[in-house]
Amino acid sequence: MCGIFGLVGSDKNAASVVLEGLKCLEYRGYDSWGVGVASNGQIKIDKHSGKIGNSLLNLPEGSFAFGHTRWATHGKVTDINAHPHLDCSGKISVVHNGIIENYQQLKLELKNHRSISETDTEIFAHIVEDLRKKHSLKEAVRLGFLKLKGLSAFLVAEADSETLIAVKNGSPLVIGLGDKENLVASDAHSLIPLTRKIIFLEDGQLAEITKNKVRIFDVQTGRELELKIEEVTFKAIEAEKEDYPHFMLKEISEEPKVLENILLNLKESIIKFTDSLKNHSKVYLVASGSAYFAALAGSYFFSKIAEKELIPVAGSEFIYKEKFLDKNSLVVFLSQSGETIDIIEPLKKIKEKGIQTAALVNVFGSTLYRLVDEKIWLEAGPEIAVVSTKAMIAKLAVLGLSAFSFNSKYEAGEKLLSQTISNMKDILKQNLDEVVNFLHDKEHIYVIGRGISYPVSLEAALKLKEACYIHTEGFSGGELKHGAIALVDKGTPCIIFAPKDESFDSVISNAMEIKARGGIIIGLSEERNEVFDHFIEVKESGDLTAINNILISQLLAYKIAIKKGLDPDKPRNLAKSVTVK
Ligand code: F6R
Repeated sequence: MCGIFGLVGSDKNAASVVLEGLKCLEYRGYDSWGVGVASNGQIKIDKHSGKIGNSLLNLPEGSFAFGHTRWATHGKVTDINAHPHLDCSGKISVVHNGIIENYQQLKLELKNHRSISETDTEIFAHIVEDLRKKHSLKEAVRLGFLKLKGLSAFLVAEADSETLIAVKNGSPLVIGLGDKENLVASDAHSLIPLTRKIIFLEDGQLAEITKNKVRIFDVQTGRELELKIEEVTFKAIEAEKEDYPHFMLKEISEEPKVLENILLNLKESIIKFTDSLKNHSKVYLVASGSAYFAALAGSYFFSKIAEKELIPVAGSEFIYKEKFLDKNSLVVFLSQSGETIDIIEPLKKIKEKGIQTAALVNVFGSTLYRLVDEKIWLEAGPEIAVVSTKAMIAKLAVLGLSAFSFNSKYEAGEKLLSQTISNMKDILKQNLDEVVNFLHDKEHIYVIGRGISYPVSLEAALKLKEACYIHTEGFSGGELKHGAIALVDKGTPCIIFAPKDESFDSVISNAMEIKARGGIIIGLSEERNEVFDHFIEVKESGDLTAINNILISQLLAYKIAIKKGLDPDKPRNLAKSVTVK
């Protein structure tokens, strides 16, 4: 979480360039933001709580600037706690992504310093200030960083030397090499408008960045390392909403195009991926949040279409299953951002053991993209809305096609996906007003489905929680009566996914059980059924119908959020890239 952007160059307008960079990074955290600029040997700072929006900077001109968008961990969301933070002299400033786990203990050692904020970050400015008395800036940051526990990425700026030091362990930082200017940011996309020459800083590395030079060092030893410069080819971020009122709606509407791209470009990678699956007796699908529900759905695709068992595990739980891994295991990580700490941490651990790894990942050049042995780049394009939509759909399509490919029926999968795409185009035009009007003011909603519609229910519930702030629980239809049905009362809304597959009869019986207790049934199915109080028609696409049902859930969540006057692109308390544990 948190976005970092810095620039050392010759353009006197560096602060405005940094502000534009921060706007691209706001998906990483939008509690507060701040920009610092070097002026007359001091760092001047403009920082505020809230989103950047159309804010203008109140800063002097300067060619050396840096900034931050915050997702709060330590300290409330206030102007004072916003980054950058200064040392006592006002010459050294820091911005930070991560957590200093031993900050309370370190703070005790900094008694002679004046701390203003409640953050863990600020102490690092003071640590560097002390070390700077005897060391170069680079050495002061390196030695200071070695004192810290936890996963962090820092940018340290010194006004006098017009030098930025970037250092990381856990959270991403990317260096951009420009023409008489050098840059650093939390992701490559935000640098693309300025340069395509990039160095991905690895964990345990430090970069010394001046206007004309970038040098990289190993944090542990201080040894200088060779620069590994890459030329990135992907398109600049399409950060415009075009004619859409929100990124969430734009990204949902792009889903048919995303799947067409998969059909056009990913066949070879999918068949290669399927071969890897065949070569491993045990395959785990590891992911978090929506991506985990895609993994769960993938396991259903594989058991039905390919008759192969894949084991889905939530990223944060995977360390507890690790002991079952052996040389016949393949661990496939699924992620939009490719930076989620709950998957990056286990990935690093199992790589040390020589376990084979693969990924379905949307962000090119992300940590996941770079670390795995084999990857499928989903190419769904940048997802700006914090809630994941098109990347989720892309993962489902790749997993569905892989299941067909596993059974040597890739062409049948292609045909079905084409039909799905055509159905999705119709679904996007559907009017959902009746159900939106019924659900928007509800406090609790239950969602059920069986078989592959079980992960669909979990995902639908997550979308309603995060975009609409409605307490929504997803269950498998069969599990409901083992306890949770106690919550069903007169008027309790229940969404039922009832595709015409092997789950149909049983899930309709579950709907009857709910209705008998006063529940109101919102049926999502191809045909109306007498048990439904409200009905949304969902055109079916055989074994890939789950994709249509996920699309409908995303649209429902979007429309309910709008009806409630919420911003579905930036829901409260969330950030797009979850890089802290
Ligand atoms: C839900 C959502 C999150 C992410 C999760 C994993 O809409 O966006 O649940 O799916 O944080 O993120 P990635 O896919 O980037 O690893």
